[in-house]
Amino acid sequence: MEAKLFVFLLISVMIFSVAQSQLKTGFYSSSCPRAEATVRSTVEAHFNKDPTSAAGLLRVHFHDCFVQGCDGSVLITGSSTERNAPPNLGLRGFEVIDDAKSQLEALCPGVVSCADIVALAARDAVDLSDGPSWSVPTGRRDGRVSLSSQTSDLPSPLDSISVQRQKFSAKGLDDHDLVTLVGAHTIGQTDCLFFRYRLYNFTATGNPDPTINQAFLSQLQALCPKDGDGSKRVALDKDSQTTFDVSFFKNVRDGNGVLESDQRLWGEAATRSIVQNYAGSVRGLLGLRFDVEFPKAMIKMSSIEVKIGTQGEIRKVCSKIN
Ligand code: HEM
Ligand SMILES: *[C@@H]1O[C@H](CO)[C@@H](O)[C@H](O)[C@H]1NC(C)=O
Repeated sequence: MEAKLFVFLLISVMIFSVAQSQLKTGFYSSSCPRAEATVRSTVEAHFNKDPTSAAGLLRVHFHDCFVQGCDGSVLITGSSTERNAPPNLGLRGFEVIDDAKSQLEALCPGVVSCADIVALAARDAVDLSDGPSWSVPTGRRDGRVSLSSQTSDLPSPLDSISVQRQKFSAKGLDDHDLVTLVGAHTIGQTDCLFFRYRLYNFTATGNPDPTINQAFLSQLQALCPKDGDGSKRVALDKDSQTTFDVSFFKNVRDGNGVLESDQRLWGEAATRSIVQNYAGSVRGLLGLRFDVEFPKAMIKMSSIEVKIGTQGEIRKVCSKIN
């Protein structure tokens, strides 16, 4: 009897500590019931003015999670903070987060973390772009550390598959998560600078990157002339840059990937089969649907090294540590 009771208590304690160490959906349902609706209406107002703002918000969440965990550290302004590091200079959508935060501080001061606002805004951005929606587990706390020197965990568009894989697996994400999450490039844009080297003298061969589809190569060369403006913006998904669909994967299959890192997903068997599945070129290959898998992968990414309970703080202003 005593042994049974002991096991029961042990299991109860285990369940309790798991619950304590996790985020949960509806974390603000009693402390700030309008929290999620406020983020939603703010993202929507900005989206209605500029549908490309959705891509900015989704990327901010990714860059937040990969450095110091999803703790709003990417939002902090300052000369030596993450936000000022090269991989983050093109991030946009900070004004949307600030807008939601100031409304939430008026509604429920000191309750809703900036990290959660970023996670919720990413979900709403995908939903508004005709993508899937999902319940976002919340309860993240804001971090108190943001250093530009720590942004090397972020992937570069020049990374090989093995480096991409290393960077994702360091965050507990596998090949399936990698391919699924990079599918975020179905919306948004990139500077010519990040891929122009593929168009002219790739790896000093004197020729363009041979993996680029010929017709697409001419289009990209017209958009990004050799000595043209490197900051010119080009859609990451040539067919539908504001719609969250599977065309990104069809592009990669057809040699129409813009970033080298995107196109490389087709170059290796392990990632290719996942791209092929989402592109729908082989019916039921892995039986995976992008609109089902993307939310699952996002929930995993959104949980990276989160701070909870009494860790960190709830910032008053998202760009400043209290
Ligand atoms: C190997 C992984 C990845 C690499 C190398 C990569 C690289 C890049 C680059 C170079 C850009 C263009 C930035 C600019 O010119 O301003 C970009 C844009 C973007 N990335 Fe990624 N990315 C990766 C994974 C992801 C993931 C996991 C997400 C989200 C889940 C994401 C979401 C986005 C979005 C939405 C944009 C468009 C942003 C905008 O229009 O402002 N990316 N990415
Ligand atoms: C390509 O780059 C290499 C190395 O910089 C250079 O030697 C070569 O002349 C270039 N080729 C062309 C066609 O520009």
